[in-house]
Amino acid sequence: MVKEQFNSRFGVIMATAAGAVGLGNIWKFPYMLGQNGGAAFLVVYIVCVLLFGLPLMITEFVMGKRSGQSVRGAYQVLAGNTHWNGIPILTCLSVMLIIGVYLVITGWCVKYLLLSVFPSLPMLNGWTDILCNTIAVFISVMVVWMGVNKGIERLSKIFMPILLLIVIILAVRVAFLPGAKEGLTFLFAFDASKLSFDVVLSALGQCFYSLSIGMGALITFGSYIPKKQNVVSLVGNVIAVDTLVAVLAACAIIPAVFAYGSSPEQGPKLVFSVLPVVFQQMPGGQVMAVLFFALLCIAAITSIVSLLEVLTASLVDISAQKKHPLTRHRAILYTGGVCLLISIFCALSLTDSGNWLVWGGKTLFDHIDRLTSCYMLPLVALSTVIFFGWFVDKNVMKEEMQPHYGSRLWTIRVYYFLIRWCFPILIFLIALHSIGII
Ligand code: PFF
Repeated sequence: MVKEQFNSRFGVIMATAAGAVGLGNIWKFPYMLGQNGGAAFLVVYIVCVLLFGLPLMITEFVMGKRSGQSVRGAYQVLAGNTHWNGIPILTCLSVMLIIGVYLVITGWCVKYLLLSVFPSLPMLNGWTDILCNTIAVFISVMVVWMGVNKGIERLSKIFMPILLLIVIILAVRVAFLPGAKEGLTFLFAFDASKLSFDVVLSALGQCFYSLSIGMGALITFGSYIPKKQNVVSLVGNVIAVDTLVAVLAACAIIPAVFAYGSSPEQGPKLVFSVLPVVFQQMPGGQVMAVLFFALLCIAAITSIVSLLEVLTASLVDISAQKKHPLTRHRAILYTGGVCLLISIFCALSLTDSGNWLVWGGKTLFDHIDRLTSCYMLPLVALSTVIFFGWFVDKNVMKEEMQPHYGSRLWTIRVYYFLIRWCFPILIFLIALHSIGII
């Protein structure tokens, strides 16, 4: 069967950006900024994106593009042996668990969207959360079902511009609120005293999360890129869109929080418990709430789509070697089903009827979140850089760069220095930081 490819350069950028732009940008980035000193965090974040995000995204894209395979096949093709099969397995396992946790938060976004459109809807108990999870899975599965071109690429080309428009409208509206200036100062007035090792490691972790590094999405989407495309410029565009949305989301949220007398240091609940109150007080608040939660839903669902595609493509590849290969549609149903199941257990663990899913004082949701973000994702990212830096033929990267950058190959030397030495140490430090050891 001929593998589908993205049709256009714009399509590649929109599809990859739609996968990268998610709750990490709109839910997580603003509260991390609020907790880590505003502009100081923003500056460090942008440096991290350029210095570390860019080369790592290029690496994953090149792995997909050169091998033309899903995560499952890419390591095998590039290494020329099966010794590295553990990394794709670990990637797919982490992705399944990450989607499970992510779906719970996406379910809340769907619920808040419905509530802001129909304020009198009765939506009180944990079961409505599960219903909203299911709606999110259903929509995501439908998009993947429609295929790489007709589903993922086409819908990303429609929804990414809409998402950008909504976030711009929100940021501009909020900028005109009385009292918003204080929030904008917090965001953009750099105060060096706020810088710390902690801020740097948080920014690095956020950079990896926001750009979906180590989740296999870039390898999978890389395998759909037409051969003549320049990977560096594609990645540059994706990074620009991802960072722009994160900064605009912060501009929409932080000044609003300041204008209504709340503190930006509220952590994860900033978007779900502080903002609805802020919207209630704001003139035209209901429209703002609808736009904001629609923004969150679009961002979250398109990100889930990208990770479901990782699982689906890998499952199809694995089964292709079996006696009865799976069709793509069947593979989507299996992966969607398993992720939905994980998310139902995670959502249940947060309700009163889910006491049996709580141990060590923490819910299943917390355990999975910690397991994936502190251990599994860093391990995948670490193994990938070691794999590509030390075990893949250097000509793979050289041949990819040569047609676009000719003999200016000193950049390759810098790249290999980063990927062989700096990145493994950095990823290790991020992991220690998220576990709480440093
Ligand atoms: N880059 C995505 C984000 O910022 O939200 C990361 C992501 C996490 C994508 C979990 C998809 C997902 F299910």
